[in-house]
Amino acid sequence: VLKMADLDLTGKRVLIRQDLNVPLDSARNITSDQRIRASVPTIRLALEKGARVMVTSHLGRPEEGQFEEKASLAPVAAHLGKLLGREVPLIRDWVDGVDMGDHDLVLLENVRFNAGEKKNDDNLARKMAGLCDVFVMDAFGTAHRAQASTHGVAKYAPMAAAGPLLAAELEALAKALKTPARPMVAVVGGAKVSSKLTVLEALSEKCDVLVVGGGISNTFVASEGYNVGKSLHEKDLIPEARRLREKTEVIFAEDCRTTKLDFDDWRHDAPVEEKAADQIGDDEQIIDYGPKTTAKVVEILKQAKTIIWNGPCGVFEFDAFAQGTKDIAHAIAESDAFSIAGGGDTLAAIDKYDLADKISYISTGGGAFLEFVEGKTLPAVAILEERARGQG
Ligand code: 3PG
Repeated sequence: VLKMADLDLTGKRVLIRQDLNVPLDSARNITSDQRIRASVPTIRLALEKGARVMVTSHLGRPEEGQFEEKASLAPVAAHLGKLLGREVPLIRDWVDGVDMGDHDLVLLENVRFNAGEKKNDDNLARKMAGLCDVFVMDAFGTAHRAQASTHGVAKYAPMAAAGPLLAAELEALAKALKTPARPMVAVVGGAKVSSKLTVLEALSEKCDVLVVGGGISNTFVASEGYNVGKSLHEKDLIPEARRLREKTEVIFAEDCRTTKLDFDDWRHDAPVEEKAADQIGDDEQIIDYGPKTTAKVVEILKQAKTIIWNGPCGVFEFDAFAQGTKDIAHAIAESDAFSIAGGGDTLAAIDKYDLADKISYISTGGGAFLEFVEGKTLPAVAILEERARGQG
């Protein structure tokens, strides 16, 4: 694909699609600015190259066709301004044209306020394309969506290129997945087997050891015929768990930390018990790996040369249930392997233990990261490749 870094952008109108879909709390404070920080080098480079820069993104999933305060990019504009050390004006209505001078930088309000964005409406995409001389796709986190601002616009813009962040994401993921140094270990946590089944399938074909945590591990514990009490698990996916175990070495909880408290009573100093996985009582819930399983996983991670991490191994939001996730996060950080992590909860764990600098590559993608791991084509990347063939 064409790369923004290779283009002469002097005086050009450049539209950069970023993924600035950041988590906000109820007071609309940004709770993780990782995606905004990741977009800064691209924006700086475009400005240095003398472009007139329009940046845009979606935020949340507002109803299309209208402005909605709670999905406005206003907090993002303010934060981006702080990071860049200059004001970043937010343009509410922009589809029909944006007035800009040389070296200007503006943020275009939430692309999902435009009717037709999600269904990749042709007219909308053509209008977006008309705003610029060069369209730069840099939103790796949204590259799995074929929408007007990720796909259609790339089809019609005079030129379409990959931004540095998108290019770096694709390169890091390819290094981890296409030509991995071995042994390759995947750590997949999270609540449900069902929501990660295709990822688990794909990884079971590729990696040497598949470590499963969280509710996913519970279903594997149940596949041993053990009682899992009140633990989150999916009975109907036990056959799938057994099938995956036939394909590769799967590590799941041999011992666990459990609680008898109901969800509403969970707290940082909740009492926990350590139990072998075949000793779980009917009134208990598994909320973390036990020390034996954690030590085994840590040992496996020490030997690894490539590590892919998506999803926590326990309910790490509560300190009492966090030990397994914390130790495994540290082991990934300390390992010599090429390590790559992605997904909102995973990033929250990395932030919590302050390990961001020690992971080889942190992806800004959630769904896009998983789809890439699954081996799916990302439509927003595919259109850049198509354009590159046409652009020569
Ligand atoms: C994400 O957070 O995974 C991306 O920004 C995509 O958001 P979406 O699932 O609302 O399309």
